[in-house]
Amino acid sequence: MRTLLVALLLVLAAAARAQAPAAPAAGPADLMPFPAEVVWQSGRLVLNGAVGSSGPADPRVDAAKDRAMARLFALGLRAPSRRPQQATLVLRWQSAGLAVQATGEDESYTLTVTPRQATIEAPTPLGILWGLETLLQLARTEGGAVQVPAVVIKDRPRFPWRGLLIDAARHWQPVEVIKRTLDGMSSVKMNVLHWHLTEDQGFRVESKRYPRLHEQGSDGKYYPQEQVKDVIAYARDRGIRVMPEFDMPGHTTAWLAGHPELASAPGPFPVARTWGVFDNALDPTREEVYAFIDGFLGEMAALFPDAYLHIGGDEVNGNSWNENARIQDYMYRHQLRDNHDLQASFNKRLSEIVTRHGKRMVGWDEVLHPDLPKDIVVESWRGPEALAQAARLGYDGILANGYYLDLNLSTASHYLPDPLPAGSDLPEPDRRHVLGGEACMWSEMVTPETIDSRIWPRAAAVAERLWSPASVRDVDDMHRRLETESQRLEALGLSHRSGYVPMLQRLVGDAPVEPLKTLADVLEPVKYYARGQVRDYRSDTPLDRLVDAARPESEPARRFRRQVDFFLKNGPDAAQAGDLRSTLARWRDNHAALEPILDRSPRAAEARVHSRDLTVVSLRGLEALDHLASGHSAPAAWGEEARHDLAVAEKPSASELELAVVPGVRKLVLAATQLDQLASMGARAWNAQIESQLPAPRQP
Ligand code: ACM
Repeated sequence: MRTLLVALLLVLAAAARAQAPAAPAAGPADLMPFPAEVVWQSGRLVLNGAVGSSGPADPRVDAAKDRAMARLFALGLRAPSRRPQQATLVLRWQSAGLAVQATGEDESYTLTVTPRQATIEAPTPLGILWGLETLLQLARTEGGAVQVPAVVIKDRPRFPWRGLLIDAARHWQPVEVIKRTLDGMSSVKMNVLHWHLTEDQGFRVESKRYPRLHEQGSDGKYYPQEQVKDVIAYARDRGIRVMPEFDMPGHTTAWLAGHPELASAPGPFPVARTWGVFDNALDPTREEVYAFIDGFLGEMAALFPDAYLHIGGDEVNGNSWNENARIQDYMYRHQLRDNHDLQASFNKRLSEIVTRHGKRMVGWDEVLHPDLPKDIVVESWRGPEALAQAARLGYDGILANGYYLDLNLSTASHYLPDPLPAGSDLPEPDRRHVLGGEACMWSEMVTPETIDSRIWPRAAAVAERLWSPASVRDVDDMHRRLETESQRLEALGLSHRSGYVPMLQRLVGDAPVEPLKTLADVLEPVKYYARGQVRDYRSDTPLDRLVDAARPESEPARRFRRQVDFFLKNGPDAAQAGDLRSTLARWRDNHAALEPILDRSPRAAEARVHSRDLTVVSLRGLEALDHLASGHSAPAAWGEEARHDLAVAEKPSASELELAVVPGVRKLVLAATQLDQLASMGARAWNAQIESQLPAPRQP
């Protein structure tokens, strides 16, 4: 089955490649998200710094032009001379955009670059913003001049809703984090910031009407309303809507800290310091609770201009409802069979309130219930099925499942899930209900220092899934472009790369950081929610250990594994083997350099077990290459020992880290022990045969 899957994926990848436009021999093709249509031309344009524009006045275009020019100046573009020059960049848009950016507003643009001029034409200012981002991705400095290859790009998003959720509640994220994240989002054409503002652990927005909410629910860490307005304006300038989420009736402990009278159980309710699903919930049976929600949401509806308002609705365990005799009596009298019915009745009241305040209600997939009006939007987090189910029932939906960045999964695992997957049997008229998706940065395990490395660059792969044609699915090509995109994001002010070495350096004090970096480069945090199973985390637990520095996906380990794949697919080839050998030898020798540093660095002690394992595993890889070079299968006993070493290296560790090179070495070991059998196969069948024997990826 797996073999078949691999073959299928190869066919799909080949098909995607066949449809993708060919890049010019000497031009950049590392656009991300990849545009809908690209036709490369010959020649290139040298930009002169003069810009012409025509279209109805829109401050977003002026601001975007200024930002684009600043980035081009940073590349080496010289300011235009005083002599009037023919502008080499011309922006033309037809209509002013809407006063409040809307879902489904035309975002298309055409970018035409000839050796004389680059023109961006678009129906609305949004298209100009996105066209400028594409132009910036094409620009290169050569011979002291900033150049753009000649091309015609006709581009438009596949989905109108391309979001990123930031949970600013569990771990507080100050406004600088939000703004630099908006910069990154805009550069990959994401257009919705889903701002998760309230939780058990924090109530993060100022309420002038009910100030006890933020005063008693936030430890002083909340966004004043002026700051909220500033973020909304900043986002709008970058083509991004801001949808707030006020999660209820569960996940509300921080609301109840200041307003225990809203609860379903007697208080008091101190702000939560640990993670998980709590019993605390609003009381859905009392009119005062709805009056309060009405007052609060009215205030927030005026503060947030976006047409959508997210009310959460997830993970209500119902315990505090079960234990309240008055609530049970209410349910009996109103013929509510279970807590899902009770929550649906709450949601129905909420939707009336939200509608009265001029918004469309969005909720997590638990809100799906036949009693709810069809204008609510369902965000599907527990599985992709809820999205299709909602669409069939006539509800608009957004996919979050598959895009949870907090799970520390590979970029590819987020890249491939599709809101409208190939082979979906959703009838054509229902497909328009699938609005798009959202990458989700839940913040149990992130701080302002580490959040960039959890969001970026992986969110850019989700951005591509939501913008680019469905056929753009070649994982290797995505990774190639993502490397460039990652550098661009760093240049924009994100710290997912630059924050790494300083974190490692702190662990080793003034000792050389390089040996620890070599190891950390091939370590990954454990996946899914496994960190919380290793130790009890609280909101004040420092997140500054090796596991917090390590990146969710090790790029060197990924490349190593691809190189092993290539090596096995093409038959053991001496040149490839040489590269693998030098990589493995470097890893093998690292422990000798790192060990004396670890002896003096108590904060880096967690590295020790992995450092030893890296040596052992690398030695097994080198031995496997020796056996493969010998032309005969390795002895079975060697295979047993090698597999044992790999299993030991893979054992869960108190460090909450995984040695990411193990899967690649395991393939070499398997190939070495089966060489005699494999040799009779075609070279390509080798790799598939070995793939089929690998353990399935671990599930939560
Ligand atoms: C969620 O992850 N509870 C929406």
